[in-house]
Amino acid sequence: MKISFVAGKKQQKPVDILGIACFEGSKSFLKEAAIQKILANKKFAGKCGELFFLPTPFMKTAGSVLLVGMGKKENLKLEGVRRFAAKLLGQAKSLQHEKVGIDLDSFSGAASLDALIGALVEGAHLSDYQFLKYKSKPAPARKNIEVDLITHGDEKSSSAHKALKQAQIIADGVIFTRNLANEPANVLTPERFAKEVKEMAKSSGLDCTVLGKKQIASLKMGGILAVSQGSSFDPQLVVLENKVKNPKFSEPIVLVGKGITFDTGGISIKPSGDMDKMKFDMCGAAAVAGAMKIIAELNLPVKVIGITPVCENMPGSKAQRPGDIITISNGKTVEVLNTDAEGRLILADALSYAKKFKPRALVDIATLTGACAATFSDKAIGLMSTHEGLVSRIKEAGEKTGERCWELPLWEEYGDLIKATYADIQNISKKNAGTITAGMFLKEFADHTKEWAHLDIAGTAWTDNAKPLSAIGATGVGVRLFVEFVKSYL
Ligand code: BES
Ligand code: ZN
Ligand code: ZN
Repeated sequence: MKISFVAGKKQQKPVDILGIACFEGSKSFLKEAAIQKILANKKFAGKCGELFFLPTPFMKTAGSVLLVGMGKKENLKLEGVRRFAAKLLGQAKSLQHEKVGIDLDSFSGAASLDALIGALVEGAHLSDYQFLKYKSKPAPARKNIEVDLITHGDEKSSSAHKALKQAQIIADGVIFTRNLANEPANVLTPERFAKEVKEMAKSSGLDCTVLGKKQIASLKMGGILAVSQGSSFDPQLVVLENKVKNPKFSEPIVLVGKGITFDTGGISIKPSGDMDKMKFDMCGAAAVAGAMKIIAELNLPVKVIGITPVCENMPGSKAQRPGDIITISNGKTVEVLNTDAEGRLILADALSYAKKFKPRALVDIATLTGACAATFSDKAIGLMSTHEGLVSRIKEAGEKTGERCWELPLWEEYGDLIKATYADIQNISKKNAGTITAGMFLKEFADHTKEWAHLDIAGTAWTDNAKPLSAIGATGVGVRLFVEFVKSYL
């Protein structure tokens, strides 16, 4: 899909379908007299979700028009703009149209031009994504759609072009993450993950270090070693760093992502129904990698480090057992009462490893608990933190990107639920609060950094039904959230 910004009446070429944003209570979308007439006795009012399609042979610049109800202008969120693009493209595709126009002026006053362009480009690319590489017969060739973002104003186009380019970089990063996360676990082994990320790092200008099993062992990362010991694949620890000449401040932001390429549960094996989905258990790591790609390509002047522990949780003959006691690299001991609570064990080592970078802020992201999906369904990311300012920063970023976060408490009292009989802590709760106790567990390994937050994406990283901005499969959640979060430091 090719998206262009077109300013000035003279530049405008005719399109097959033109998308017009219509706001409730405003008739300003009725610029064309003929459209006005057609709509005169229709119920279309611009309410959110309303659509009105009409062929427009009387218009020189468009073969047809799709009026998209956007609700009240003062309530418009950028997520609505992303969905507008998704709806319009869906309609264009079903009609086999190739030339699509978006009337930017129809949004006027709802958001800045740059923000509009950003959201439209993201919406177009994200809704267009499909993962078809394993179909042996190629899907019927799709029309190569061209989208013109049209304004009649003679806008200074340099900032608009920049907004367009940046949104394209952002969408590409999300798609990189989706592609990684949609790969099956027989293909995307821990080593293969490291290889793919290393290649990305090279082409995006990131430093990348991959630690193998030997180095992981010499760093005494008992959590990563224990989880991976039942698998025939060696664990990997991938560290990404952007190169910044004049960073705004010297301490880095450190992002940590859970990378379980497949989670069988280990000896505490999961039921087989739905187990196939557990190839998604590296979505946190993939989100960190995708965000790092974007952060590098946008040249954001903030030092950012991404750390992804990657391994497979299998019930092999060497697998860890319930009751095993392990030592994490920071010296704390853990009683592994359930080998299916493995994510927190590898994150414990990765969070401990982050200490050496002296982070200004430390944020981890993981498909960590079924309980989080049960609490929020696919509507919110579970957010837990030790720092109020960091919570607001992350929540705000989520509101902007449409990846909404909601905080759960990490009160001291919850610590009682993971006190162990034989070790310092145990890896499951004594009673309920599955998501919070997982957060409490991680907190033990992030205590070197004042500003730490944990994001549980168990409910949001995957979708079983197509959504406006995501096909079935990995959603790439967290990527745009992280980019917006890092931008908030500028
Ligand atoms: N990867 C899972 C979390 C998960 C489960 C995400 C289901 C989405 C759907 C994680 O490793 C896990 O198995 N967690 C256990 C923890 C429990 C044993 C304390 C869970 O949530 O059931
Ligand atoms: Zn598990
Ligand atoms: Zn898991």
